[in-house]
Amino acid sequence: MNINGTPTRTLRAHPERRAIDIIDQTRLPHALHWVRVATLDEAAHAIRAMLVRGAPLIGATAAYGLAIALADDAGDTHLAEAAAVLRATRPTAVNLHWALARMEALLVPLDPATRCAAAWTEAAAIAEEDVAQNAAIGQHGLGLFRQIARQQGKTLNIMTHCNAGWLATVDWGTALSPVYAAHDAGLPVHVWVSETRPRNQGLLTAWELAQHGVPHTLLADNAAGILMREGKVDAVIVGADRIAANGDVANKVGTYLKALGCADNGIPFYVAAPRSTLDFACPDGGAIPIEERDGNEFRRILGLDDHGVPTVVQQLPLPEAVANPAFDVTPARLVTAIITERGVCPASADGLRSLYPEAADA
Ligand code: MRU
Repeated sequence: MNINGTPTRTLRAHPERRAIDIIDQTRLPHALHWVRVATLDEAAHAIRAMLVRGAPLIGATAAYGLAIALADDAGDTHLAEAAAVLRATRPTAVNLHWALARMEALLVPLDPATRCAAAWTEAAAIAEEDVAQNAAIGQHGLGLFRQIARQQGKTLNIMTHCNAGWLATVDWGTALSPVYAAHDAGLPVHVWVSETRPRNQGLLTAWELAQHGVPHTLLADNAAGILMREGKVDAVIVGADRIAANGDVANKVGTYLKALGCADNGIPFYVAAPRSTLDFACPDGGAIPIEERDGNEFRRILGLDDHGVPTVVQQLPLPEAVANPAFDVTPARLVTAIITERGVCPASADGLRSLYPEAADA
């Protein structure tokens, strides 16, 4: 994806294989600030404090975090401890757990002397696969968008929630990948960007769409319903943090309400996610752990002061009790289709099995 006109990835591995650079997303959209991650603690902090966020990018960062940890000590105990530290950072996005399981499956049987190099190579492979899979999601989603556009004969109005774009992945994004593919292919597209309280990841979406030149409009989360009722939304597309074996989808809190709005208004509701987001061991959405985050995310808000300086202000008089579930589960029956790197399928056990027979039968 283009940033300031230059193709850029969200994660840069240092050639000497001891560190990575990431974008501190807590400072966006007000500042684009790269941060070096050179220790296990820095990697764990980056994920926990959401300097990096978005399920696929969390997975890739954790993989590199494990590789970085092994540079100090590649013995069995440290490998297990480092993986446990990273695994404990965030519970809902299964990509984190998938990436660490993949790394451990490769590394545990190896001689400790070879683990460090192997870990780095595997982390790089995870990052590369993410880019390729997201690009493929873009092409499959573009096919769906073209079908809708043929019926409409006008600019396609796509609504999204949270940030499932470039910033949530190594490149291209999941839900936004078809949007970039459509824009790059010359299909007129406009994106309704839902603010996504309390952390306002919608501002990240607006920022990256602007960087790539995609027309878009921000809206308060509560405005989604009226736009749907007024016929201003042709399709909703979101990412996912975990998709259960039956097609239930955990995604950023507020996703479920958008799916309900789509169902009442006959609007297709698509979920885009790579293989690493599918959890075939999880039978349904009820088994997905939902992260409850610090209430201060709700109490405080980042903005610019009158002098244009980024400032955090308290928006609630303390002490107000707040609830802050970070995700919700959309039942499969409300999902029109799931888009993965292998294609488009119904949100059901049979649908997912048709794309991933090897995983579903394992
Ligand atoms: O809490 P976050 O910002 O890490 O949330 C994850 C997400 O970005 C979204 O839920 C997204 O839609 C899925 S990740 C592509």
